[in-house]
Amino acid sequence: MNKFKVLVTSKHPGNAARSLAERFEVDLNSDNAVLGPGELAARLRGCDAVLTLLEDRMTAGLMASLPHLKVVANCAVGYDNVDVQAATRLGILVTNTPGVLDETTADLAFALLLACARRVVEADRFVREGRWRSFTPDLLLGVDVHGKTLGIVGMGRIGKAMARRAHGFGMSILYTRRSAAPADGAPPGARAVSLEKLLAVSDFVSVHCPLDSQTRHLIGRRGFSIIKEGSILVNTARGAVVDQAALIEALDRGRLRGAGLDVFEAEPAVPPQLIASGRVVLTPHIGSASIETRSAMAQLAADSILSALSGRMPANAVNPEVWETMAARLRSGAAQA
Ligand code: DGY
Repeated sequence: MNKFKVLVTSKHPGNAARSLAERFEVDLNSDNAVLGPGELAARLRGCDAVLTLLEDRMTAGLMASLPHLKVVANCAVGYDNVDVQAATRLGILVTNTPGVLDETTADLAFALLLACARRVVEADRFVREGRWRSFTPDLLLGVDVHGKTLGIVGMGRIGKAMARRAHGFGMSILYTRRSAAPADGAPPGARAVSLEKLLAVSDFVSVHCPLDSQTRHLIGRRGFSIIKEGSILVNTARGAVVDQAALIEALDRGRLRGAGLDVFEAEPAVPPQLIASGRVVLTPHIGSASIETRSAMAQLAADSILSALSGRMPANAVNPEVWETMAARLRSGAAQA
């Protein structure tokens, strides 16, 4: 039988590519550069599966041009880079990497929250630039975190991990979530409220919902007009959940005290106004970037391909309804080989 062909679009820590290579013919992009759309399409030709990054845009047109493609294993919990509806129509299974990155992403979100509140990055710059002359009572004053209210937009796994950290810091917790049911596993005292209420009363707002047609620009001009004066916004989810132009205006007007941003609307581009602002802390989409977590994500994505191409549905399928169609394509391919 011919070996299945798998494209791994990027290098990952850990053994994911190796475990795929033990079973399949693997084309690994070992450069540090993301594949451009033309090269991605060329290297995908004849592939049965692909292990993608969120930078790889798996569009309807691209997937329709790949008759062999059966599995897109996205190495991220978010999958807004994949046209899942089109994949389902084409009989392609899509998987993501939920569950393995929650704590690590919440660690970074909380680090951004603390860094903004206590001006850690500004203070570091101040010392390095040799500007520290003496202890001064009003030097680099920040705001307290303990005793304040954190509003969590999206109380899924990562939102709950953030809530646990906030609880440990003695914060009150408000949250929004899509389902009307209270979130299981939320810390004691955490309360579900409307987005308007959350924005109006929270001292810190942390975004943890996925990006889709309902959440694009969920926090926009209107949100920034009601957000509590002097609050701090943290976003480790997807840049486009927040209207970036409206965020910049809110920072300029002083409506927001600061923002901790790991994600941006047109990554890797970061608007010059954000680069120039002393009140924002910027990181390059590293929410899940610990050695342990990035290795676990890649292994989970590789395991999804190993399972699916062996005829077992992976637990983390995003479009499980396509399984029978995809499995039939797999059997008919095997029969022809
Ligand atoms: C995700 O998993 O969606 C992150 O943004 C990438 O780690």
